[in-house]
Amino acid sequence: MIQYDFSLKQFNTFGIDVKAKAFSSFSTVDELVKIIQTKESSLPLFILGGGSNILFTKDVDALVLKNNIEGIECVAEDSSFVEYKVGAGVVWHQFVQYTVEKGLGGIENLSLIPGSVGASPMQNIGAYGTEIKDCFVSLDALNLETLKIEYFDKDKCNFGYRESVFKRELKNKYIITSVTYRLSKKPKLNTEYGAIKEEIERMDYQEISVKSVSQAVINIRNSKLPNPKILGNAGSFFKNPVISYAHFIQLKEQYPNIPNYPQANGEIKIAAGWLIEQAGWKGKRVENCGVHEKQALVLVNYGDAKGNEIYALSSQIIHDIHQKFGIVLEREVNIF
Ligand code: EPU
Repeated sequence: MIQYDFSLKQFNTFGIDVKAKAFSSFSTVDELVKIIQTKESSLPLFILGGGSNILFTKDVDALVLKNNIEGIECVAEDSSFVEYKVGAGVVWHQFVQYTVEKGLGGIENLSLIPGSVGASPMQNIGAYGTEIKDCFVSLDALNLETLKIEYFDKDKCNFGYRESVFKRELKNKYIITSVTYRLSKKPKLNTEYGAIKEEIERMDYQEISVKSVSQAVINIRNSKLPNPKILGNAGSFFKNPVISYAHFIQLKEQYPNIPNYPQANGEIKIAAGWLIEQAGWKGKRVENCGVHEKQALVLVNYGDAKGNEIYALSSQIIHDIHQKFGIVLEREVNIF
């Protein structure tokens, strides 16, 4: 059923009240193809997953399609791994919980990331030393021109830090319908990330397992990141910038404690949250929006913020960080 002038407030975690010209959800590929074939040909398509990585700054003059394709199906298994083909509409954390309950390893560090399974490859979601590309096998996506399903292996997705081909060259050309992940029966737990180790010790678990790592991540996230159901947000608003070694040495002289992560190519990744906090923005409120008090990388909607208020705040922050550190922050969230 297509609905018109439909509010998207409940469908984006920032809680921005914009209207879609038309809106429809779909639960199967057939249903999706039918909707596309019957749509008014003038309307462009706009695909919505969990709505957890988007900032709407205007009404959407399009047919917005909400992916509700469900299902978790085991498609391969041997003594060391299991592969699940997962409907793109499945809530990401529900899939994580499903694998954690079975003691399968691979995505436990990605517990509680908001959004849907279909959105997870879009920006190669990552946290606490893990990225989905490490467990990703393949995905199926509907080509919006041919209306045929196409298969993408890992190479074709061209994953990078919070990047994939679907955020760049193929933007708005495909709808991801399912994703296949490979989980391990012999998990190699990744507790290197400092905060995880500390949290596991604090929790006093008998053994370190997929479950305890997942619980540690849940605890850390809950303590730092605002729950979008209570305070609108889209997780990290900016990417952590990567700068040259020479630039880093220069900054380190002035700021000996600057958090830094050397990259394979010799460049240095810097914590954007730290830069924003140093510049005095942490916890700052500007009318209806602001910078989260516990994690400066997260912008929040205190109530009825408009998308362009939040966008304007992000521009001010980018400008200020450039002035103070000579670094240009990039937005991680998709802006519409
Ligand atoms: N920091 C500050 N002040 C802050 C925030 C962070 O000084 O307000 C410092 C921390 O003390 C630490 C460093 O910055 O030394 C890194 O902080 P943290 O470990 O919290 O991670 P992050 O770099 O801020 C990234 C991801 C998060 C992910 C965490 C954990 C990006 C853009 N963000 O944040 O991802 O959960 O690491 O792995 O890469 C998301 O993408 O939406 C997201 C939440």
